[in-house]
Amino acid sequence: MRILVVGASGTIGSQICKTLEHHDIIRAGRNGLDVTVDNMSLDSIKKMYEKIGKVDAVINAAGGANFASVSELTPELNERGIESKLKGQINLVLLGLDYVNDGGSFTLTTGVMMDDPIRMGASAAMANGGVKSFVKAASIEMPRGIRINSVSPTIVQESFARLEKYFVGFSPVPASRVALAYKKSVEGAQTGQNYEVY
Ligand SMILES: NC(=O)c1ccc[n+]([C@@H]2O[C@H](COP(=O)([O-])OP(=O)(O)OC[C@H]3O[C@@H](n4cnc5c(N)ncnc54)[C@H](OP(=O)(O)O)[C@@H]3O)[C@@H](O)[C@H]2O)c1
Repeated sequence: MRILVVGASGTIGSQICKTLEHHDIIRAGRNGLDVTVDNMSLDSIKKMYEKIGKVDAVINAAGGANFASVSELTPELNERGIESKLKGQINLVLLGLDYVNDGGSFTLTTGVMMDDPIRMGASAAMANGGVKSFVKAASIEMPRGIRINSVSPTIVQESFARLEKYFVGFSPVPASRVALAYKKSVEGAQTGQNYEVY
C-alpha cells in the first residue's frame, strides 16, 4: 500500500513508520522527509495532496494542544487545540477524500485525556473528543468503501519522563504497541472505531 504518514518524525509517527515499513511510506510534517505540510494551513494541505497524488491510506500522528488549567485557559490558548489537533486532522480528511483510493483508509489520533482526565488537559480532551465523534459519524457515509478510525494512545513510555508530572499514576505503554493500532486500522477491515491503547 502507498501510505501517507503526517507526523512521521514524531515519537509515535516514527514507530508507525517502522511498523508499516513493508509498505510504501510517504513521510510528511512541517520538515517532512518526503513532503512538507503544516496541517494548520488549508493551502499547505492542498499542496501536499497535489504533490503526492493518490494514496491507499492517510495516517495523522501530528497535532497538539496547550496544557493549562481551566481557570488559565484563555480562548487564545485554546485555539491551538482547535486549529491543530481538531481542525488540522479533520481537514486532512475533508481535503484528502479525493486522493484516497477506493477501499482505502484514514487513521487519526485522539488520546487518553478525553476518557481519563488529568489536570491541565481540558483543551486536548476537547479536541480528542471532537475527533472521536467526527470519526464515528463520518464512517457511516464515507464514499467508495473508504474507512476511517482513530487511535487513542495513553501516555507512551518514550514521552513519560517529560510528561510524568501531568500523568500521575498512569501506566505508560511503548510507542511500538500504540503503532499496532494504526496497523490494525490500515490493514484491517474495521471502520468508525477509536482504538484505545491504555
Ligand atoms: N506522546 C504521547 O504520549 C501521546 C499520548 C497520547 C496522544 N498523543 C498524541 O499523538 C500525536 C503525536 O504525538 P507525539 O508525541 O508522537 O508527537 P511529537 O513527538 O511531538 O511529533 C509530532 C510530529 O508531528 C509533526 N508536526 C507537528 N506539528 C505539525 C503541523 N502543524 N503540521 C504537520 N506536522 C506537524 C512533527 O514534525 P515537524 O516538526 O517536522 O512538523 C512530528 O513529526 C499528538 O496528537 C499527541 O497529542 C501522544
